[in-house]
Amino acid sequence: MASREVGVALLGVGTVGGAVARTIAERGDVIEARTGVRLVVRRAMARSRERVIQVGLPPEIATTELDDVLGDDRAEIVVEAMGGEEPAASYLLRSLQAGKHVVTANKEALAKHFAELAAAAHAAGRALLFEASVGGGIPLMASLRQILAVNRVSRIRGIVNGTTNYILTQMAEQGTAYAEALQEAQRLGYAEPDPTADVEGYDAAYKLAILASLAAGRHIRPERVDRTGITGVTPEQVGEARSRGGAIKLIASAELDGEEWRLRVAPEFVPGDDLLAHVRLNFNAVEITGDRVGPVVLYGQGAGPQPTASAIVSDIVDAVRFGVALAPHVAPE
Ligand SMILES: NC(=O)c1ccc[n+]([C@@H]2O[C@H](COP(=O)([O-])OP(=O)(O)OC[C@H]3O[C@@H](n4cnc5c(N)ncnc54)[C@H](OP(=O)(O)O)[C@@H]3O)[C@@H](O)[C@H]2O)c1
Repeated sequence: MASREVGVALLGVGTVGGAVARTIAERGDVIEARTGVRLVVRRAMARSRERVIQVGLPPEIATTELDDVLGDDRAEIVVEAMGGEEPAASYLLRSLQAGKHVVTANKEALAKHFAELAAAAHAAGRALLFEASVGGGIPLMASLRQILAVNRVSRIRGIVNGTTNYILTQMAEQGTAYAEALQEAQRLGYAEPDPTADVEGYDAAYKLAILASLAAGRHIRPERVDRTGITGVTPEQVGEARSRGGAIKLIASAELDGEEWRLRVAPEFVPGDDLLAHVRLNFNAVEITGDRVGPVVLYGQGAGPQPTASAIVSDIVDAVRFGVALAPHVAPE
């Protein structure tokens, strides 16, 4: 198979961006042999150039300016792994407008600007891929895309936040209190120093809004999610759920009620005969129900550098191969 060289630009070289660089370096030959795509990191951006050099990338590709990335014709694909709403959302938009394919891991920017970004991808004739934004390494978006080609999806339900699932698992299995379980999660790197986005359910709400927007074919904003976090969950509630053979889980659910999508993130009692009761530690699982295919459950590691980079690098290859055909169909609200 004749290979094609493809230049990649990284916006952000932290946990995820650094893992993407390593994956390309370590798996480049395998990717080329299997797909005919030879990936080369052409630019890497962070808040400081030193940070880029620290992750082992050559100093000459390091930049702190988006214009250096957009002006580099050899960088066909922009991978955004910065996080947060701004400036990430503007950078995603400008990258598409500059004719780059875009791959992002950023659930917040996507959930808040989905329709605008989808429209920009279609207008520019470029791919917009975001497998890593929900469910880390689990091929959720690819599965949802496949299901949505034929089915009407009326229900999505799952565990999409590994941090809170880790905390709830420790509370149930070790009998620890919430604060202690949170500290343990932070020590292991599962929870951020500021855990608000996870424990208050914002992260799960962003992910649910992305999934529901795809199922609905129009932008469903994260503010529409009825959201409760896990900070109020007591050891007694967790213990009682366990004694009934089930578990308390932070469940994200989107359900079509007539023409209206109802979205909710909240701690719920999940009975023992439900698969979701058995999703432990930092794992995620999502059930997608289509009117033809029935319920489909996807399970795996919802975060972590390696699973996330696996999803991102697969997206890069798909962007090269399929281009705008893989831009999402998300109309404005
Ligand atoms: N960590 C995971 O397991 C995981 C899984 C799935 C999805 N994600 C998503 O992936 C994204 C990145 O997460 P992460 O854990 O890799 O974050 P991180 O370790 O904090 O890395 C963020 C990177 O972006 C750079 N950056 C941030 N703001 C910038 C700005 N204004 N200008 C230039 N560079 C900027 C930082 O630069 P400096 O290094 O110079 O500070 C850093 O290199 C987030 O959207 C997150 O939700 C993460």
